[in-house]
Amino acid sequence: MQTQQHLHSSPVTDKAWTRRELLLGVGGGGTNSSHDMGTNSSSGANVPLPTAGTFKAPVKLDNTSTANGTYVATLTAAATNVQLAATGAATTVWAYNGVLPGPMIDVKEGDTVTITLKNQLPQASTIHWHGLPVPPDQDGNPMDPVAAGASRSYTFTLPVGSAGTYWFHPHPHETTHEQVFRGLAGCFIVRPAIDPLAALPERVMVVTDLRLDANNQIAPNTDMDRMNGREGNNLLVNGVQLPTLVVQPGTSERWRIINATNARYLRLSLANHTMKVVAHDGGYIEAPQTVTETLLAPAQRVEVVIEASSLANQNFTLSALAYNRGAMMMAPAPTNVALLTLNTGLAGTATPATLPQRLRSIAALNLPVRTQAIVLQESMGMMGRASQFLINNRSFDPTRVDLVTRLNDIEDWTVENQGDMDHPFHIHGTQFQLVSSTRTDTTPGLGYRAWIDTINVRAKEKVTVRIQQTMLGKRMFHCHILEHEDQGMMGVLDVQP
Ligand code: C2O
Ligand code: CU
Ligand code: CU
Repeated sequence: MQTQQHLHSSPVTDKAWTRRELLLGVGGGGTNSSHDMGTNSSSGANVPLPTAGTFKAPVKLDNTSTANGTYVATLTAAATNVQLAATGAATTVWAYNGVLPGPMIDVKEGDTVTITLKNQLPQASTIHWHGLPVPPDQDGNPMDPVAAGASRSYTFTLPVGSAGTYWFHPHPHETTHEQVFRGLAGCFIVRPAIDPLAALPERVMVVTDLRLDANNQIAPNTDMDRMNGREGNNLLVNGVQLPTLVVQPGTSERWRIINATNARYLRLSLANHTMKVVAHDGGYIEAPQTVTETLLAPAQRVEVVIEASSLANQNFTLSALAYNRGAMMMAPAPTNVALLTLNTGLAGTATPATLPQRLRSIAALNLPVRTQAIVLQESMGMMGRASQFLINNRSFDPTRVDLVTRLNDIEDWTVENQGDMDHPFHIHGTQFQLVSSTRTDTTPGLGYRAWIDTINVRAKEKVTVRIQQTMLGKRMFHCHILEHEDQGMMGVLDVQP
C-alpha cells in the first residue's frame, strides 16, 4: 500500500486498493469490481464519423516575420465548432487557431521562435514545447500558468542539432489531459541546414484520439479513463478518420508520425510493407532500421520511410495493432485499429529512393557523475475515490522540488515501474539515451543509438537512461499518460549552477 499524499481533487481515501485487489475482487463490501467500475465507463456513444476522406496535411502556422532566422506567430486557444460527426450537430472543441490538429510549426535550426499564446479558454493554460531544448521559463511549465483571457509570449532559439519532429500541447496544473482531449495539440518540425532526406516527399501525421457523446460533443472522462488514461472511439490522422493517401506505385515517402493521444499505444504496421525507421523523438538515428512494426507510446514520435508497393491501384492499411498495456481488465480488449489507407492509384510509377547509409552520427554520452532513482507507483482507488499515481511515494506538488541536478552534469536515471500498466516516462528540456533495460523489447531498443525524450516503461520493467540538462531552472518529469500526470505522477527537477 502506498502512503497517502495530498490528493488533488478528491477527499483522501481511507484505504487505497491495489489494482490486484480490485481485479481479484477482494475490495471491501463484497464489491464486484468489474461490475461497479464498469458502470461509468462508456459515456461515449459510438458516433459515426465520415471515413475514407482524402489524406490532408496539417495546416501550417504562418510566419509573420520577414526577418531571416526569425519565426513569429500567434496561437489562440479557444472553443470552436467543428463538424466531426457524419450527421447531426457540430462538435465544440478547444483548438489552436480554430483547427484540428493545431497548426504546424515548421522552422529551421538556428531560428529564433516567438509564439504568443492568447488564452481564450475558460481556464488557465500554457504551451509546452515537448522535447525541444527551450529555457525552463519559456517551456510552459504548470508553475507558469497563463490565466483565462490572458496572453503571453514564448521565445527561444533552436540550436544546431535539434532538428526533428516535436509537438506542442498545453501543460496546466491538473487539466492537461482535458485540454489535450478537447483538441489542443500540434506538431513542431525543426529542419537541419542540410537534410540527408530532403529529396523525399514528406507527410506529417498527427494522431489524436476522439470520443464523442450522443450529442456529438466531446465526452467527459470516466472513472476508467482516470485510471487507465483516456482512449477514445476514433483515432484520427490530422483530424480525419481513416484518410486515404494516394501515391504512385513504387514511390518512397518520409512519414513523420506523432502520437498526440492521451493514452493510446500505437503499434504501427503497414500491411505488406516494411518500414525504415530513420528518426525517433530527437531526430535522425545514425542509420535506417528496417522494421515490420514499431511501437509509438503516448507523446513519442517516429519517422519512417516507406516504399510503396509497385502494384498499381492497391490499398494497404496503416494500423495500430492490438497492444496490451496492462490496462484494467474492464477496459475493452485491445484490438487492431486502421489509421490510414495507402492507395497506389496515382498515375505513373516512381523509382524507389535509395537511402543514405549514414544519416548522422550520435555520440554516446559520457559516463554519469551520479544516479537518480525514479520509482513509478500506482494504487487504485475504489469507485468514487481517487486513484493515486505516484513517483517515489509522492504526488506532484508544483511548489516542491523533487530532484536536484547540476548544470551539464551527466546522470543516469533509473526508472522502475512498480505498477501493473505501462507508463511512458518523459523528461523536459533535453533528449536522452537509453542505456539498459530489464527487458529486451523497448522501442527504440539498445540495438542502435537514438535521442529520445519519452521512454515506455512496462509493468515491472526497470530502464536506465543517460541524460544531461544544459539550462538552469525547473524541469518536469512525468508519465505521459496525461490522466496519470494530472493525478500526481509528475515531479520537478531543479537544474542548479
Ligand atoms: Cu509532452 Cu510534460 O510533456
Ligand atoms: Cu515535454
Ligand atoms: Cu502512467
